[in-house]
Amino acid sequence: MTTATAAAMTTRPAIILDCDPGHDDAVAMLLAARHCELLAVTTVSGNAPLHLTTQNALLVCQLAGLDMPVHAGADRPLLVSAAHAPRAHGRTGLDGPVRPDVHRTVASNDAVGCIIETVRARDGVWIVAVGPLTNVALAIRQAPDIVDRLAGISLMGGGAGPGNVTPTAEFNIWADPHAAQIVFAAGVPRLLMAGLHLTHQLCVGPEVIAALRAGGGTVAGFVAELFDFYVAGYRERAGLDAAPLHDPCAVLALTHPELLGFAARRVEVETTGVLTRGMTVVDERPGADGTPNCDVAYGIDADAAAELIVDAVCSYR
Ligand code: BDR
Ligand code: CA
Repeated sequence: MTTATAAAMTTRPAIILDCDPGHDDAVAMLLAARHCELLAVTTVSGNAPLHLTTQNALLVCQLAGLDMPVHAGADRPLLVSAAHAPRAHGRTGLDGPVRPDVHRTVASNDAVGCIIETVRARDGVWIVAVGPLTNVALAIRQAPDIVDRLAGISLMGGGAGPGNVTPTAEFNIWADPHAAQIVFAAGVPRLLMAGLHLTHQLCVGPEVIAALRAGGGTVAGFVAELFDFYVAGYRERAGLDAAPLHDPCAVLALTHPELLGFAARRVEVETTGVLTRGMTVVDERPGADGTPNCDVAYGIDADAAAELIVDAVCSYR
């Protein structure tokens, strides 16, 4: 396995964050706003229906005083029916804390247009995608010229082992496998994959929650309550006292690549398998003949990553 990629990569990359908040998406937003130039947040149907993921993104911006535009995107996958993740994220997608009224409003309902215009207007933009890949795939299909203009895409999705929504598939890829196939096959200059085999190494439990509470701010308190709910669900379902913090890994892959270990792999998405829909097939055969299309992250310094996340969340008041 080669170590962290892209020494030349900027440490404060310009990004569009495409997300479906989502407890871990909310943390990814806060982390990205601290360590990236966050040009826009785009929302997609995923953990909850689109109107809720969008409200949740606006809520996080409001609480943390983030002023980047939020654009609502696709309210359903390309071909399959919309599915959500209430078991992990509750009915609202962000269950746990008492919900304040949201006064922020969206900049547009055209996330796809936002992605296309932003990438055309500026060199070197990254997309960090931490929900189903519907918006990103639609943007690539409508404007194939953006593929070469992008710096790359860093995504949370898939895995090189067991799934979480089926034995073989991870939620973001399973929820819109056709979109994922378009993204993996697009030929973007860099594609970074934080799959379940990686994100399960970065778990939040009582220690992180206590550190957030000790941090004292309103935002940290809100995130602590999000984690109370999120971890309680894992405790109930899996008997674990900690829960994987998936989405921030896709931000860290870009902002702190030295904390991760990557290997170049060919990754394809299964769209039609009866038992394997949404599986990411990662070719790990030594000397595999397919050209790698992806830097798959395999390992993360979880203690350092958790510390960075706590620091970022506690930096908001
Ligand atoms: C992914 O699915 C969602 O529930 C999380 O937000 C994360 O993006 C993990 O499978
Ligand atoms: Ca997500």
